Amino acid sequence: MKRMLSGIKPSGQLTLGNYIGALRNFVAYQDEYEMFVFIANLHCVTVYQDPKELRKNLKDAIALYLACGLDPQKSCIFLQSDVMEQAQLGFLLTCNTYMGELNRMTQYKDKVAKQETNITAGLFVYPSLMAADILAYDADYVPVGDDQKQHVELARDLAERFNNRYSPTFVVPEPVVAKVGARIMSLSDPTKKMSKSDETNKGCIYLLDDLAVARKKIMSAVTDMVGAVQYDKVNQPGISNLLEIMSSLSGEPIDSIVTRFEGKGYGEFKKEVADVVCETLGTIQAKYQEIMESDIIEKVLEDGANKARYIAHKKLMKVQKKIGIEIRK
Ligand code: TYM
Repeated sequence: MKRMLSGIKPSGQLTLGNYIGALRNFVAYQDEYEMFVFIANLHCVTVYQDPKELRKNLKDAIALYLACGLDPQKSCIFLQSDVMEQAQLGFLLTCNTYMGELNRMTQYKDKVAKQETNITAGLFVYPSLMAADILAYDADYVPVGDDQKQHVELARDLAERFNNRYSPTFVVPEPVVAKVGARIMSLSDPTKKMSKSDETNKGCIYLLDDLAVARKKIMSAVTDMVGAVQYDKVNQPGISNLLEIMSSLSGEPIDSIVTRFEGKGYGEFKKEVADVVCETLGTIQAKYQEIMESDIIEKVLEDGANKARYIAHKKLMKVQKKIGIEIRK
């Protein structure tokens, strides 16, 4: 069975973008692959987080993994910081990454372009840690949204570099990016990605949003003056985004939705999108409540960490021997 691995940063509440671009795919793939899904809690401290909020977001993220359908019997679910081998491998891979490669990472370049202050060294080297997350487990496939594809490509380059410099050690992973829903856009500015750190909160639907709030966000989503429900990302980015959201959640192809709404107005269309979104959120939130009231989370994390640690430790030892920093047999 091929192995698949992915993770989400709990640097805020999980969003509909995380669900559509990543989480729902993890759930769909867990029957087909040996699945490893972790919470990237080290990645999220590359930017300062309020400790109290972080603790809450972290617990919510794990509960949401389960509420969205990740099954601990099928998937290994764990916390990144519970497997220290991952961070150590991260350092070794950082030493095999060139500054030029990290300088080219779009997410980092965007922050520099926005003249953000206090960009940490951790944020700069984060793609090397992400490579370690993937390579420690010999993942064949990495399901991600569009914005993370470049980071998976760096992981491929680092795996190939290491394999060529020493000897075959790492599986070279492949990104898996869905055709629809890989980049859900902000509802208030459909030229920007829907993101956890949305300043106004209007453009982003959180999985734990009150349903009335979520509905309102969809109903006030920015559209255009064209007045026809059509899939045209260039001229109608807002409507196209809503079409992607609806199609991803309902499974109905975009063409079919477009046909159904021929001659109808945006209000009617948005109402149906809101219905579909609220139905999804309602189901997730009910399960989330059950999970929060149970004591399943700690057990899931402990079992997950034990399984993950065993694999990552073996890989790290292998790497250390090849590099020459380990003399024990
Ligand atoms: P993060 O936490 O930013 O996002 C988690 C996943 O959600 C996807 N995503 C989206 N997809 C569609 N539309 C959106 N608006 C949207 N926003 C986010 C992301 O593409 C991602 O798949 N560095 C990673 C976490 C990570 C990781 C890894 C992933 C750390 N190590 C190893 C895979 C493998 C991150 O910050 O994702």
